[in-house]
Amino acid sequence: MTALALVITGWDVAPWERRFRAAAPGRDIRLWPDRLGNPDEVAYAAAWLPPPGAFGAFRNLRAIFSLGAGVDGVLADRALPQVPIVRVVDPNLMRRMTEYVTLHVLMHHRRQRLYDAQQRQGVWHEHAQPRAGEVNVGIMGLGVLGRDAAEVLARLGFRVAGWSRAARQLPGIECFHGAAGLDAFLARTEILVCLLPHTPATEGILDLALLRKLKRDGALGGAFLINAGRGRLQVDADIVAALDQSALAGATLDVFPVEPLPAASPLWAHPGVTITPHNSAASVPEETVAYIVQQIERFEAGHGLENVIDRASGY
Ligand SMILES: NC(=O)c1ccc[n+]([C@@H]2O[C@H](COP(=O)([O-])OP(=O)(O)OC[C@H]3O[C@@H](n4cnc5c(N)ncnc54)[C@H](OP(=O)(O)O)[C@@H]3O)[C@@H](O)[C@H]2O)c1
Repeated sequence: MTALALVITGWDVAPWERRFRAAAPGRDIRLWPDRLGNPDEVAYAAAWLPPPGAFGAFRNLRAIFSLGAGVDGVLADRALPQVPIVRVVDPNLMRRMTEYVTLHVLMHHRRQRLYDAQQRQGVWHEHAQPRAGEVNVGIMGLGVLGRDAAEVLARLGFRVAGWSRAARQLPGIECFHGAAGLDAFLARTEILVCLLPHTPATEGILDLALLRKLKRDGALGGAFLINAGRGRLQVDADIVAALDQSALAGATLDVFPVEPLPAASPLWAHPGVTITPHNSAASVPEETVAYIVQQIERFEAGHGLENVIDRASGY
């Protein structure tokens, strides 16, 4: 009774199945919904966007592994069995996110969208360029991903602050926390990077009221948003409104409340918006499967599972 079931929607399951079979040749791998066999034999589930109720048949389930760093897709199932839920913490995924955040902070800092537009018009014109040390970056979420991005941006010379739920202390990073610390964090932030999880407390947090609190009179002459956390953290219509009211000078969005972003969304054609298709830090089967197989081996050897999420806080 130690079978592993893959419960995957929205992604091609084949590379995940191949990788699990290669990484754990002795393991009985089952596929939801058609190749499950006897569900009583399933001890572990590895999941991405599992449909509500999908785990209900697994009466002997011992743990659920999210195939991504975020667990909102798993927790959306109100009938989840009371077993540990483990999320992915992987240095490769973390570095991919830091690459993405750094790329887009620098893109806004170095006005690359403006130079792209000038190139299309054959315009040779140099704009004043502030030093990184004059620019305030603020990172919402000082977890595994937010901390690494903060450290790299600080190394580049930016003035970096972070905002988290509990108080944190990080060398070289100005730390704010909780509802009481949010306004002060926003007031000093020109480039806002969102790396929060989607929970009941963070849903829709990136709305017009919040975006209007960002610092607009800094060295960059406007405020910028980069959201690579989850789409339901943001209110798309409010981002458009913030751009149109100059509360934002630009936005990079990797995630959206509805994915793929609907063709009718005004974000697609907005000149202030840079869109990527939820690819800032993809879960790669080779890396993620190795991590999950290692977790199961640890668990079966009598050690605790690592990176078990707290259901009450939702991350
Ligand atoms: N776009 C992509 O491709 C992609 C890829 C990977 C991950 N992600 C997203 O990135 C998120 C963050 O990943 P992670 O590994 O860094 O997560 P993590 O280690 O769990 O860190 C989450 C951070 O958010 C903070 N936080 C949570 N709720 C908050 C609240 N209500 N108010 C203030 N701060 C709050 C936490 O505060 P404390 O420090 O006080 O706990 C923590 O600092 C994931 O949940 C996922 O949604 C996106």
